[in-house]
Amino acid sequence: MQDLHDLALILDVGVPLVVIETHEERRALELVTRLAITRDWAVFTWSATAGLRREPPDPDQPHPTGTRKPDGVLAHIQDNPLAGLYVLFDFHPYLADAPLNVRLLREIAQQALPRPLHLMLVGPRCELPEELHHLSARFTLRLPDVEALERLVREEAQAWAAANRGARVRSDRRNLERIIRNLRGLTEQDARRLVRTAIWDDGALTEDDLPKLNKAKFELLNLSGAVHFEFETAPLADLGGLERLKAWLAERQDAFLGRGASAGLPPPRGVLLLGVQGSGKSLAARAIAGIWGVPLLRLDMGTLYNKYYGESERNLRAALALAENMAPCVLWIDEIEKGLATGGDDGGTSRRMLGTLLTWLAERTAPVFLAATANDIQQLPPELMRKGRMDEIFFVDLPETSAREAIFVIHLRKRQLDPGRFDRAALARLSEGFSGAEIEQAVVSACYGAAAAGRPAGQADVERELDRTRPLSVVMAESVQALRAWARDRTVAAD
Ligand SMILES: Nc1ncnc2c1ncn2[C@@H]1O[C@H](COP(=O)(O)OP(=O)(O)O)[C@@H](O)[C@H]1O
Ligand SMILES: [Mg+2]
Repeated sequence: MQDLHDLALILDVGVPLVVIETHEERRALELVTRLAITRDWAVFTWSATAGLRREPPDPDQPHPTGTRKPDGVLAHIQDNPLAGLYVLFDFHPYLADAPLNVRLLREIAQQALPRPLHLMLVGPRCELPEELHHLSARFTLRLPDVEALERLVREEAQAWAAANRGARVRSDRRNLERIIRNLRGLTEQDARRLVRTAIWDDGALTEDDLPKLNKAKFELLNLSGAVHFEFETAPLADLGGLERLKAWLAERQDAFLGRGASAGLPPPRGVLLLGVQGSGKSLAARAIAGIWGVPLLRLDMGTLYNKYYGESERNLRAALALAENMAPCVLWIDEIEKGLATGGDDGGTSRRMLGTLLTWLAERTAPVFLAATANDIQQLPPELMRKGRMDEIFFVDLPETSAREAIFVIHLRKRQLDPGRFDRAALARLSEGFSGAEIEQAVVSACYGAAAAGRPAGQADVERELDRTRPLSVVMAESVQALRAWARDRTVAAD
């Protein structure tokens, strides 16, 4: 087992203090115990509730007293340094503003002890103070790999069969593989629980279990709250126009999913969708996930910011790692310029956030496709626009005549109106300069007006609404013109 090997390496070079950051206390203790058995070492555990005890407890030797207090246990170890591994659970709170504890730990770690004595701090989060850095190493429990997950699924299936007089769990190779792939990124404990629930539900592991597993997995992984699982992806059919973007996506689908003739090609990394408000950028981002048939995650940059130095980037890295665990997926950052606005006095945090994002974009290996949208180019950091950062920067302009017609069809259908009963060409002509959002709005308003009169909306109702609307492209003609001029040389048209 790789974990055992790695932990042994750390101890063998003589590191006195090992930090194991994990939520899985039991697994950490199991690992330490297993290592101790192979070496014939003793294991001691400590928690604030139980104090120090030997594992397994020795009936001839009572637990030492006075060791529930953190300084008590350290003083005890210092005075009675028995060889062995000391596993301290959730000790980190007692290191903050506690110079005595820090000093005690340091002295124990520095003492030239004639036999192996290692302290292991186990907890979900553990930052060591400066004084202890050079005496310590960090150890990360690996998540189960595909083989371990396969084994785990087999064990759970056998357990179910044994409890059901030898009945077999229904499944097939293909779905089993997909389920195992989707369990990646989960701890062993969580994966086991999900599989067990899925099997006991109906004695089967089938396609039906996938969305449930995905959702449960996402909820388990979603520790930070900055990444949201979006149930609503958009089907291709919901997006009018943007033909070039659609073709671009279709060409890259197989490369992204690593299948067919494109399997060996580097998977696409991401696009930036820039453009006029209401033209369907957010909708297009949702549609990418819908078209490719992968989960959609939305990253809310705003919630990552933290006043402590370095915390924000750490949050971002955690969020990106989380997205990788859901791969293949689309990671959507809406209005990215708002999350990265470099103006103002934030001590360089947003610059470092951008750096973190770009590094990840260049280095990430899991198929996570970044779909970023932006409205305001003024606020957009130029680094993001540099060639090679994104696969493509698309400009989403106001829809042309044929796209407007397509958008009318989409929104009439959504309101249970038969587009065949409308003069669509006329509507497209009358809505020159309208965004997709404004077209939708006109259809909706027409429906309200007609419903008040007790009838379904017709051509005249929609035309009236179009006539009443002053589209943004007219109200804000100058800024729309400026945006277009700016985009001409720097972006590819999405339509
Ligand atoms: N190209 C389009 N096709 C169909 N509907 C559109 C289109 N563009 C905009 N809409 C409608 O307008 C709504 C708002 O658009 P949105 O994607 O939020 O625009 P943006 O993000 O560019 O400001 C969409 O949810 C959709 O109902
Ligand atoms: Mg938007």
